[in-house]
Amino acid sequence: MIKAVIFDLDGVIVDTAHYHFVAWQRLAKELGISFTEKENERLKGVSRMRSLEIILEIGGVSLPEEKKEELATKKNSWFVEYIEAIKPDEIFSGVREMLSSLRQQGFKVALASSSKNAETVLRLLQIKPLFDTVVDGTMITHSKPDPEIFLLAAARLGIEPEHCVVFEDAEAGVEAALAAGMKCVGVGSADQLGKADAIVNSTADFRIENLHSL
Ligand code: BG6
Ligand code: MG
Repeated sequence: MIKAVIFDLDGVIVDTAHYHFVAWQRLAKELGISFTEKENERLKGVSRMRSLEIILEIGGVSLPEEKKEELATKKNSWFVEYIEAIKPDEIFSGVREMLSSLRQQGFKVALASSSKNAETVLRLLQIKPLFDTVVDGTMITHSKPDPEIFLLAAARLGIEPEHCVVFEDAEAGVEAALAAGMKCVGVGSADQLGKADAIVNSTADFRIENLHSL
């Protein structure tokens, strides 16, 4: 019996996953590392520092901690610049209505994003009041694929993991949801998200009445 629905943010609610990619690609270019959209799939859902480390691994580059901190901060400043202009109507089509309907039908609704910028994005989209709880990258020690963020969201909602469904666009996120003992709807392609219990092209394509048959 599903009682709660937990949403990832970047790539599930709004197209900020694209801005993360553009900022990482800009940094990779500066470092002389070729970094493709396909390789970017590995960065989705993981923390800022782990993302940088994956890019450095791809380029075969090793750097001291201090330099890595500087580069991660630089990437974040570009990302923050890109998202500054986000308007409420940039939420993916149908998602605002879906969040409202879920709560009207008695489901608890949470946001669980690895991003430390999640609060900013929620404010720009003006959707924070649509969630019963928000958990982000500032509140966790281990980022996806570790289940910590989803377990924390469920605990804050007071709902057992087995009664939760997660919407995720990242392979690391699908793994985290399943490791938490939750159901998972993948948003995107079966190539990356094949382990999910169901896959949709975009979040609002999922029909709420199908939650119980996952
Ligand atoms: C996740 C994104 O939501 O947040 C990742 O999928 C990103 O691509 C991660 O690296 C951390 O984001 P931030 O905003 O804290 O750098
Ligand atoms: Mg995502």
